[in-house]
Amino acid sequence: MNITVVGSGYVGLVTGTCFAEMGNHVTCIDIDQDKIEKLKKGIIPIYEPGLEAMVAKNVENGSLHFSTNLEVGMKKSKVIFIAVGTPMGEDGSADLQYVLSVASEIGQKMHKPIIVVDKSTVPVGTADKVAEVISKELKQRDEDIEFHVVSNPEFLKEGAALQDFMKPDRIVIGADNDMAFETMRDLYAPFTVNHDRMIEMDVRSAEMTKYVANAMLATKISFMNEIANICELVDADVNQVRIGIGSDSRIGYSFIYPGSGYGGSCFPKDVKALKKIAEDQGYDAGLISSVEAVNDKQKLVIAEKIVKRFGDDLSGKVFALWGLAFKPGTDDMREAPAIYIAKELVKRGAKIKAYDPKAMHEAQTFYLKDTPNISYYDSKYETLGDANAMILLTEWKEFRSPDFEELKMKLVEPIIFDGRNQYSHLRLESKGFEYYQIGKRTETVSV
Ligand code: UDX
Repeated sequence: MNITVVGSGYVGLVTGTCFAEMGNHVTCIDIDQDKIEKLKKGIIPIYEPGLEAMVAKNVENGSLHFSTNLEVGMKKSKVIFIAVGTPMGEDGSADLQYVLSVASEIGQKMHKPIIVVDKSTVPVGTADKVAEVISKELKQRDEDIEFHVVSNPEFLKEGAALQDFMKPDRIVIGADNDMAFETMRDLYAPFTVNHDRMIEMDVRSAEMTKYVANAMLATKISFMNEIANICELVDADVNQVRIGIGSDSRIGYSFIYPGSGYGGSCFPKDVKALKKIAEDQGYDAGLISSVEAVNDKQKLVIAEKIVKRFGDDLSGKVFALWGLAFKPGTDDMREAPAIYIAKELVKRGAKIKAYDPKAMHEAQTFYLKDTPNISYYDSKYETLGDANAMILLTEWKEFRSPDFEELKMKLVEPIIFDGRNQYSHLRLESKGFEYYQIGKRTETVSV
């Protein structure tokens, strides 16, 4: 099938590349000329395991094209995906300006029947708005061309996006027309060969599904973080409680890991947007607001432990920071706890020596660009010299089993603050470390 994907960011690029890999002819569009030129040469703007190689392969075999000109793709395409950004607006709602401007361009340039698919995460009712905008443009041109707007939300995890796309848990399709369902079934057929993963529903329910999936997962995390904080107060160990509750198949083991809060591009934005969707209907979504409030607080729990251990004034103190990305497998630092913790410690006079396998460039050029007193190192061990403690904030595999003897030797004192519960307290304490984690009390050595 010939398809066009508008927006060559994270979602658009993964979507377009995976469809090309399955034998479709795909044109990815973006307004950023520089980005498109780089993509044509196989240089991709983000870090996602396997993506660069898959882009290069499909560019080379002629299945994947890049252009800044929407009309080029539209001429041949039966399906057009809208995968442009929906950044958070000032009031917390998703900003639809990019989605609607693509819709209007589609309306101006279409010459034959098409199916327009909303892939971007958009509030309930957006498909109707997209349809309205296209109809208005067609009317102005005095044209009457058939089109249908479909909602097909993405459920891609950063770091595992190709696998999530190729072997999806589910493919949600919201449409109001048999032909549109039929076309989407054809397009996704190669991804559902062994197991029917298509879930068909009405457009608004599909739009809602994306927000609800992310809000549910965020709720699990905030719930566990709240429980972790209570565990500490009553001297219980959340790591044991987690296993105790996960064994109930109705609860399950996944997404109940306490830590320094959720970050990334989806959960923070989607939880806020869902709250706003409810608010716009005059409904006060108390639980969803709490999920967000708990997460905001959780991001600073490790900083609070540090202050409790070293005092309010951290001048003269140095901290080795392991992990900047919001999670392993990505260079993404959007809403990462590391931003908040680094800023808080620096504000109190501390110096930070940071290392992350992928996200240092992001930190230096953007997220921590204006924060003074942070230096960056090429390896985790290099951060340790003169440091009063090590802080772990991203659970990269290379942090899982470090040489603890080296840590002990290089740190001023053998102290670890673990924002991701990666180590066993028994093991570390037996090695002579003072080990602070989430949801398990450590008797703080007084300042
Ligand atoms: C998420 C959804 O998983 C995906 O389906 C959706 O399309 C986009 O949002 P992503 O943001 O890439 O994907 O990351 P994910 O792996 O889900 O982790 C999100 C955050 O939750 C991370 O900050 C992670 O550290 C945190 N998390 C996750 C926990 O704190 N505890 C857990 O048990 C699981």
